[in-house]
Amino acid sequence: MEKFYITTPIYYPNDIPHIGHAYTTLAADISARWNRLRGKRVFFLTGTDDHGKKIAQAAEKENKNPKEFTDNLTLKFKEAWKKLNIDYDRFIRTTDKDHEEVVIDILKKVYNKGDIYKGEYEGFYCTACEAYYTEKDLEEGCCPVHKTKIEKLKEKSYFFRLSKYQDKLLDLYKKNPDFILPKDKRKEIINRVKEGLKDLSISRTSFDWGIPLPFDKEHVCYVWFDALFNYYSATREKGKEEFWPTDIHFIGKDILWFHAVYWPAFLLSAGIDLPKKIFAHGWWTFNKEKISKSRGKVINIDELIAIAGVDSARYFLFRETSFGKDGDFSEKALIERHNNELADKLGNLVSRVSALIERHGIDKTDNSLLKKLNLKKIEILFDNYEFDKVLNEIFGFIDICNEYVQSKKIWETKDKKALYELKESILKISELLWPFIPESAEKIKHHFSAEKIKKSKILFKKI
Ligand code: MSP
Repeated sequence: MEKFYITTPIYYPNDIPHIGHAYTTLAADISARWNRLRGKRVFFLTGTDDHGKKIAQAAEKENKNPKEFTDNLTLKFKEAWKKLNIDYDRFIRTTDKDHEEVVIDILKKVYNKGDIYKGEYEGFYCTACEAYYTEKDLEEGCCPVHKTKIEKLKEKSYFFRLSKYQDKLLDLYKKNPDFILPKDKRKEIINRVKEGLKDLSISRTSFDWGIPLPFDKEHVCYVWFDALFNYYSATREKGKEEFWPTDIHFIGKDILWFHAVYWPAFLLSAGIDLPKKIFAHGWWTFNKEKISKSRGKVINIDELIAIAGVDSARYFLFRETSFGKDGDFSEKALIERHNNELADKLGNLVSRVSALIERHGIDKTDNSLLKKLNLKKIEILFDNYEFDKVLNEIFGFIDICNEYVQSKKIWETKDKKALYELKESILKISELLWPFIPESAEKIKHHFSAEKIKKSKILFKKI
């Protein structure tokens, strides 16, 4: 049986999760379910990024120690994923002992190899990004992402010899054209790497919320060096080793640089096999504005679900825009899709056909209707993470089924053979929709697998 290892970023537990976090995690859930459906052994990893200055500062603000502070918020992430029917295999935290041990081991290895050296760091650090900037990156002295005033830091630091890996990285991108997806993002990374890579400061002395360097306990490990290795450390557990390397890392476009440049460089240095693919998805705005907690433009998980239920939210996020492109979230657009597509197309088909079967029964026959479903195409689209197109294909087939009821005038002809074809088609539809809308798909499957099929209850109430 083929293995499939899929990951989400590990989120900063400095606040409760919102739609942006849900998006990546849902994409991974959809992919995990699809691969399970195809009989693969799947390992789906998600979790939280507990260390670093950002978390230390957030905890301090609430007068809590960072461990206690993150324990609390990590629970909120787990609760949210449960509400959204996200079925992961492990929830890793960078404060987990097994993870910390792996990071310490790797640090020793990379240090002994000569890829870490001591120097002095002087530069600009944005805590919200947990990233370093050069003077020319700044916009009027502010972080280019957060537009906040940026601190200038000067301290003793250990550096990772990132510059040494420039050619190796370029070679990697060249030999593996699918390493960075989608393609347009790949070009951006290649161009930036070609401009040159500077060595990376990977330690801090100004706070202590992190993993101490094994060769100098005065320093804690830079949060991204620590965090990225979560993907690897989760596979050091007994029985999980075979899952390495990762088949696909799902991330947002904002953290592609860390994943496409730092991560493979760290792995190359540590002598570990590289992940196969990294997919950077787009960003959601909320009513055309940037999602921002401070400006109240944020939508959390309870709010998302409250609009039209879990399945409609899951459906909307992957139907509205293609994975890889930016999208705009609005309650209105979600409700429209819930009403016009889930209720009017899918819901209508299910209720009409079940009512007709209850009345007239079915008669087994060859299924010419099902042949109109292009399964091969759906498989390719799924494997290319073109989720919106997958849904488009399935809903195109739902239209064909609805038209079939209409053109055959089944309510008059009582055509049991046509009803059999429709029943089988609906079962197939429920299987293909299961990764997206697991709860409704299971209901449909259960209903149409019964010995005596009865008229179904309404699946999606119109809003
Ligand atoms: N802790 C790091 C990741 C470390 S992975 C080794 C981090 N965490 S985060 O909490 O900031 O969340 C990151 C994820 O949420 C990213 O994939 C990011 O793209 C996603 N999103 C946050 N806001 C988003 C939107 N508005 N829209 C879509 N995704 C967004 O970065």
